[in-house]
Amino acid sequence: MERMQIKSLLSYGNSGQEVSVCGWVRTRRESKGIAFIALNDGSTQDTLQLVIAGTSPAFRKLTLCNTGAAIKATGVLKDSPAQGQKFEVEVSGIEVFGDADPASYPLQKKGHTLEFLREIGHLRPRTNTFGAVFRVRNILAHAVHEFFQGKGFIWVHTPIITSSDCEGAGDMFTVTALDPEKLSKDCRGVDFSQDFFGRRAFLTVSGQLEAEFLAMSMGDVYTFGPTFRAENSNTSRHLSEFWMIEPEMAFADLKDDMQLAEEFVRFLCVRVLEKGEGEIAFLDKFYKNTSIAGLKELSEKPFLHISYSDAIRELDKATEKFEFPVKWGLDLQSEHERYLTDKVFRGPVIVTDYPEKIKAFYMRLNDDGKTVAAMDVLVPGIGEIMGGSQREERLEVLMERMQQMQVPREGLEWYLDLRRYGSAPHAGFGLGFERLVQYITGMHNIRDVIPCPRAPQTIKF
Ligand code: 4AD
Ligand code: MG
Repeated sequence: MERMQIKSLLSYGNSGQEVSVCGWVRTRRESKGIAFIALNDGSTQDTLQLVIAGTSPAFRKLTLCNTGAAIKATGVLKDSPAQGQKFEVEVSGIEVFGDADPASYPLQKKGHTLEFLREIGHLRPRTNTFGAVFRVRNILAHAVHEFFQGKGFIWVHTPIITSSDCEGAGDMFTVTALDPEKLSKDCRGVDFSQDFFGRRAFLTVSGQLEAEFLAMSMGDVYTFGPTFRAENSNTSRHLSEFWMIEPEMAFADLKDDMQLAEEFVRFLCVRVLEKGEGEIAFLDKFYKNTSIAGLKELSEKPFLHISYSDAIRELDKATEKFEFPVKWGLDLQSEHERYLTDKVFRGPVIVTDYPEKIKAFYMRLNDDGKTVAAMDVLVPGIGEIMGGSQREERLEVLMERMQQMQVPREGLEWYLDLRRYGSAPHAGFGLGFERLVQYITGMHNIRDVIPCPRAPQTIKF
């Protein structure tokens, strides 16, 4: 179709050049016998202005070029006299692929609420807001690979269907080929040896355990894939299906882990500033929850560090009333996390050395015997975006912790093998990709940063 993307045309086009562009009509107006169409093709935040003279044969097609119509326009690229745009197209021909009936097309020019747009998830990427968010998501996804590949990490593909419960939180979706009509909700009494895999299988909650055996052979690895949680959380930061990035490094401790986490977030900000300035400027203008200056600061300022015990002291001092109790030994709730990032530190903070009882079995026990070498990265407005740790590499200590936490050894003998043969200190973390996109774009609801959000009672498409 000899189509040129609007993005490349605006960057590399030359005045006087013959061009063909395809896209969806955002607006159409007429003034003094000349028609103007703002065309967007999704490649950029910007629209391209099409100018159709009343004398042009294309003018007759305009009745089929309503907001939302898909068209192709051919013509000559011209320097635009109008403000805020470099070029416009003097149109000689228009082909209409499909019009959109103004009486029923839901995305007329007026502003829509994010709640309304969530109901038309298949059309919302056509809006400025979702176009911006999904393009930033793409920039970030690409930058993830760029960062790790640049550091010599190997991208490994851990399974989506798994037999192990990494986090031990029991919030896994079961994958079964048994007759669903005959299964009970708690799966009690079900003989999974008769099932497809000969034992119970789940959708993964994390690729970490498998990434560990790859790190213990290949050195530095990372995963980037979908993960699933069956927890019944209807919040602005929880999804049932989300993407996670999990680096795992051999011969590394918690300090190395934190350094990597910080460097990683900084790198991602730099790339968004380089490639998504238009998107961030748009989101700043309309939602005021992200900004170029803010991302620049984030890309330069070191993260603050605080131990869990000191964080509890900070929270104890707070005059603010919390819904959940603050007490050494209890987990930090999102209100506590946000108090630390938004009120105390006014920026990202890494909390380390949590009580062993509230963290997963694989985290390395500290010398005090009470805490583990864990770290959570907390950011303003959201709370936790990353969780990681140095892993317990000592066989005896690991086995004891598993026993205390009632993690069955059955099915995890291979994990213990890694401690039996050539065990070494190693560490890693998981970054929730949607929480990252939320943080960078400033979107309040996690359902607005993924094209097809999955949450309890929510599964359109
Ligand atoms: O803290 P989590 O549960 O840690 C792990 O799964 C480790 N195995 C990671 C590792 O060390 N390799 O999850 C990691 C991150 C969280 O910090 C959060 O950003 C995100 O995953 N996350 C969620 N994001 C969206 N919806 C949910 N329900 C999430 N649960 C966790
Ligand atoms: Mg966590």
